[in-house]
Amino acid sequence: MRYKRVIITGFGGPEVLQVVEETALPEPEPGEVRIKVLAAGAAFTDVMIRKGMYPDVKEKPPFSPGYDLVGVVDKLGEGMTRFKVGQRVADLTVIGAYSEYLCLPADRLVPVPDGLDASEAVSVILAYVTAYQMLHRIAKVKARQRILIHGAGGAVGTAMLQLGRLLDLEMYGTASESKHGLIAQTGATPIDYRSEDWVTRLYDLTGDGVDFVFDPIGGVSFKQSLKAIRPGGKLVAYGFYNAVMGRGGSIPLDFIRVKLWNLLPNGRSTAFYSIGALRKKNPDWFAEDLSKLFALLGQGDIKPVIAARIPLVEARRAHELIEAAGAQGKIVLII
Ligand SMILES: NC(=O)c1ccc[n+]([C@@H]2O[C@H](COP(=O)([O-])OP(=O)(O)OC[C@H]3O[C@@H](n4cnc5c(N)ncnc54)[C@H](OP(=O)(O)O)[C@@H]3O)[C@@H](O)[C@H]2O)c1
Repeated sequence: MRYKRVIITGFGGPEVLQVVEETALPEPEPGEVRIKVLAAGAAFTDVMIRKGMYPDVKEKPPFSPGYDLVGVVDKLGEGMTRFKVGQRVADLTVIGAYSEYLCLPADRLVPVPDGLDASEAVSVILAYVTAYQMLHRIAKVKARQRILIHGAGGAVGTAMLQLGRLLDLEMYGTASESKHGLIAQTGATPIDYRSEDWVTRLYDLTGDGVDFVFDPIGGVSFKQSLKAIRPGGKLVAYGFYNAVMGRGGSIPLDFIRVKLWNLLPNGRSTAFYSIGALRKKNPDWFAEDLSKLFALLGQGDIKPVIAARIPLVEARRAHELIEAAGAQGKIVLII
């Protein structure tokens, strides 16, 4: 049976994303299952991978990108008893999810509870696990503490604000003005990083800064974020948006700076969060946290903001939208 997948033909712009048709379905090895993908996330992290700027992906093109997916088990590898054909599963694949079918080791998969919408469920994987783990595993925030998140109108940002609301946090979020309505709906205070000095504005609003800053922007932003933290607080850095978009900063230097700043005796600490590194270090946490988030989704405590549902074969359009910061919330590729 023929099936389609999207590959990157070389590292570069959105034009390197191409649809290819395979002539035969992949066959699961022992320990694997074949998955018919229902929905895959399209994220800024995929853009990094497509540009060849993601430190954890050593694969050389051509390969299929795709950081996360929800799908249905379609065929079992020999001896497989953990899953049944027809069962819905999720995974953080890092690459490979932009495909109608793929085989994955069963021990990485997380069951998706019945009744969840596939697009909403896939929106929870990368973005909400990132937000959840930064809040609970890294910062260990307590109810009513004060946080600032940059990129607050994006996929991780909106996830963080929804999870922060559950803890009754006092929240501030930087974003361009078009996303302020969305941010305000979660009870957070939006700050326009484009038109004002956001550090000054934050001090005007809070008096003495925040307990935690969550910063995926990097470059000059990391330095400014340090200034926004009150004594005893922490900078959680988790991305290099500026470096990837050619707006200053450098991935290795930004990373090293964050690590070195943690040694400064100034009463403020720093940490770098990576969803992949944490999964490698504590393999059980990913499944545990994702299952908790699926439960919150089922109960209606969280509701992913889905900016667009785009057919897989139009993955290029999805990437163009992400790079133009055109999405409020998450973009989902529908298969
Ligand atoms: N470390 C990890 O494990 C991990 C996991 C997931 C994601 N990430 C990283 O987290 C970042 C966000 O991911 P995402 O999926 O949420 O991306 P996204 O949906 O594209 O959101 C990024 C947002 O940042 C905003 N932005 C751009 N420059 C900004 C600036 N200087 N200050 C404040 N906001 C700015 C953009 O919109 P406006 O400019 O219009 O406001 C956009 O809404 C990416 O860098 C990604 O690589 C890291």
